[in-house]
Amino acid sequence: MITVDTVAALREQVSRLRQSGKRIAFVPTMGNLHAGHVHLMQEARRYASAVVASIYVNPLQFGQGEDFDSYPRTPSHDKVVLLSAGVDVLFKPAESEMYPRGKAVQTFVEVPGLSDDLCGAFRPGHFRGVTTAVNRLMNLVTPDVAVFGKKDYQQWLLIRLMTADLGLPVEIVGVDTVREPDGLALSSRNNYLSPEERQVAPRLYEALARLRDRVQREGMHLAAAEENAVIDLQADGFRPDYVKVRRQSDLQLPAAEDHRLVVLAAAWLGKTRLIDNVEFELKS
Ligand code: PAF
Repeated sequence: MITVDTVAALREQVSRLRQSGKRIAFVPTMGNLHAGHVHLMQEARRYASAVVASIYVNPLQFGQGEDFDSYPRTPSHDKVVLLSAGVDVLFKPAESEMYPRGKAVQTFVEVPGLSDDLCGAFRPGHFRGVTTAVNRLMNLVTPDVAVFGKKDYQQWLLIRLMTADLGLPVEIVGVDTVREPDGLALSSRNNYLSPEERQVAPRLYEALARLRDRVQREGMHLAAAEENAVIDLQADGFRPDYVKVRRQSDLQLPAAEDHRLVVLAAAWLGKTRLIDNVEFELKS
């Protein structure tokens, strides 16, 4: 694996891969890599003959008072993980390479509407930061395909919308969430949980799966199912930001004819904000 930290060196590596006829898959990350990231790298390899990964804790997607400073940074561990996952090139830019004129004056990319809904309503500016960083990274790496985890479902959809709107020549692939045996979705932020909170955390996924069952099997009305899930989570000690059922295609409110749905939630457990989602289908 070749590690580069400048745009010039990245471009050199990308053109070397292109000259040898490689198809490139790109996996952007913020590091602190876990088995979920390894799965993304493995999926990326199925779509391409070379894999480029990036590690950049993107300040633009953290709000004031959020965990930018304390976000876990584990560079040596990450290198070992990426090496064993067979990644070809690792791009690790400093802020001066990522935002050369300064992050305050960086040209931004924003998908209007959906960026301010669901998680966006609770984290103003977050998705604008994500799409700005991902757009720049994709312009630098120029991949054929870019791979994202569906645990960040809204992020995945926003990146698909941005890519389509800007006509970027890259295929966006979503990869299913990797879970612990007890159902907890893998996330770097799980490290923030105390041992007691870690015991309770899988109940977020359980609440979403229960909502799905109530709607699918018992025909419960969506609004009632959402409300019940909030009550279930509060009883387990969570402070939910939201639990919402939306249609998979665009995360808008489902109409009567929509059958492919997803329930998305964000909930605080102590000082940790967890997100998760469960896709499901209604029989027509
Ligand atoms: O999902 C993440 O790790 C980040 O939001 C991403 C896509 C790397 C952009 O900074």
